[in-house]
Amino acid sequence: MTDGLKITNLSAGYGKHRVITRFTAPPLPRGRITMLTGPNGCGKSTLLRGLAGLNQASGEVLLDGQPLLALPFAKRAEKVVLLPQSLPQGVHLHVLESVLAARRASGGRSDREEEAQALALLQQLGIAHLALHYLDQLSSGGQKQLVGLAQSLIRQPALLLLDEPLSALDLNHQFQVMAVVARETRRRNMVTVVVVHDLNIALRHGEQMLMLKAGELIASGEPQAVVTPENLARVYGVRGRVEPCSQGKPQLIVDGVINDK
Ligand SMILES: Nc1ncnc2c1ncn2[C@@H]1O[C@H](COP(=O)(O)OP(=O)(O)OP(=O)(O)O)[C@@H](O)[C@H]1O
Ligand SMILES: [Mg+2]
Repeated sequence: MTDGLKITNLSAGYGKHRVITRFTAPPLPRGRITMLTGPNGCGKSTLLRGLAGLNQASGEVLLDGQPLLALPFAKRAEKVVLLPQSLPQGVHLHVLESVLAARRASGGRSDREEEAQALALLQQLGIAHLALHYLDQLSSGGQKQLVGLAQSLIRQPALLLLDEPLSALDLNHQFQVMAVVARETRRRNMVTVVVVHDLNIALRHGEQMLMLKAGELIASGEPQAVVTPENLARVYGVRGRVEPCSQGKPQLIVDGVINDK
């Protein structure tokens, strides 16, 4: 039995509209961050929703050798957490209460230790000062996104699916969040999949990468092996290059779009 996630021949979509057809990916190991990238509308969210059992999906998804899709919803929810791209409207609940409620939803107890854990998490995400603020009174983008992350992490899933978790965050929070996600991924030995559009973030924080186009896997492997001028042209229709920065870290520069795509 292999530890981690194995996706074979996964099809997912909406009604008759299959967005992903017979999608197979290399194994996604535990303890590592896999970056999922690709153009708007290529099927990233559909893939994550399929893995979480939130749309009509068929095929084989094994987590540590155990089939995920066949599990009853509640059992799967103990193992898989999806932070969706668009967050629901906040309810009139304190931030801290909402994080504890998320923990309880995954079978955790809510005692002093849990509360300390939740507060520590808020601290790490840089939002401890919001603990007693109401969810429906947070800033509509970033603060809600950070609370959503805290709710996802506190549930301690085996498979953590984050759909564009950085899209509303400032530079400081983007970096802080990726550091927390990386640390928690290792500490809890989770399979973590993060959807990002910023390929420099993928290069910097990803350990593995899947690049999609029109529902198909075009490239996979270490981010530096995936973010190549050829793949950028084929998948995004841009002229791009990856060069080492002054500290030797890979940096993507986009020079323009290819008009004759
Ligand atoms: N609820 C839905 N019902 C029907 N079709 C949908 C639904 N959600 C998405 N689609 C379609 O599925 C395709 C893939 O959408 P998806 O949201 O997975 O893309 P994405 O890669 O996440 O894009 P983005 O980068 O813009 O978030 C699109 O053609 C979209 O129109
Ligand atoms: Mg999406």
